[in-house]
Amino acid sequence: MADAFPVEKTRAFGKLILFGEHFVVYKVPALVGAVSAYTDCKLEYIDDKHGLEVIDNRPAVPLYKETKSEEGLEAINLTLSHLGVDYKTRGVKLTFGGGLCCASGIGASAAQVVSLARAVNIADSKSLSEDEINAAGYEGEKGYHGTPSGIDNTAATFGGLLRFQRTDDAPIFEKKTLASPIRIVYASTGITASTTKVVGDVRAKKEADEAWFANLINQYTVLVEEGQNAIETGDLTELGKLMDKNHELLQELTVSCKELDNLVVAARDAGALGAKMSGTGRGGLMIALTPTEEIQNAVADALEKIASQVWKTTFA
Ligand code: MEV
Repeated sequence: MADAFPVEKTRAFGKLILFGEHFVVYKVPALVGAVSAYTDCKLEYIDDKHGLEVIDNRPAVPLYKETKSEEGLEAINLTLSHLGVDYKTRGVKLTFGGGLCCASGIGASAAQVVSLARAVNIADSKSLSEDEINAAGYEGEKGYHGTPSGIDNTAATFGGLLRFQRTDDAPIFEKKTLASPIRIVYASTGITASTTKVVGDVRAKKEADEAWFANLINQYTVLVEEGQNAIETGDLTELGKLMDKNHELLQELTVSCKELDNLVVAARDAGALGAKMSGTGRGGLMIALTPTEEIQNAVADALEKIASQVWKTTFA
């Protein structure tokens, strides 16, 4: 039975936010692209044992797994409990794998819980819909931070390039068709940030100065529509400028840091049309828009010198 487990059906993608991290928590639209790298999961029931065994073979930047271990276990527990799996009555062994390198900003936690939901679906022959898988991933994400917008688990479940908006009910999201493929370089600062802490800090700053936050989010909501338009018309020069502007807003929101700012500047200097932090910030990742293979390679080479790790991908 274990060998017949179709682990490829448990794939859940990493993501990069093009526009809207943090603002998306406050129910404005965001644009997110799934990367082709994924996490997968195998679930085996161990009949003569109780308890949970987790084997984590996912690649990761240094210290990511150590820093996230407690939240990761909480996320697994929330997902299993949402799906009615009780390892106190029947032992469960989980093996996580796949090529997605875990780093703050890439949605590794969402990919983990979505792949777990897919694994439960197969092991228990549940016939869950994709929306139900996504909902289970959302429950799991709460282990990583209390108020996830749902953008990461939605990108992990559905893939592609999505416009996503949190609402008081179910989120609204739609797949976007690109006028042309978008080449990206993304790079890690090597710093693992706590999403709970950074999202909590933003909330505290907002509550301390609502007018300041309203000004930033108003600027952002204009920008995201312009960003979507640039994507739909294939205007990469405009898209790059808008990514730069989004980075400035995130700096004002205090979620960037000098390591991210340095990577952003280096990418632009090496020929990127635009660059911004992506995800939680205060560490984690940045992304750069690189219109051609040559520029993509040049930007990756420049970032290799100062980043902890660098990757190339294409949104198509
Ligand atoms: C994290 O990838 C994105 C944040 O906006 C948090 C969230 O949306 O849940 C920082």
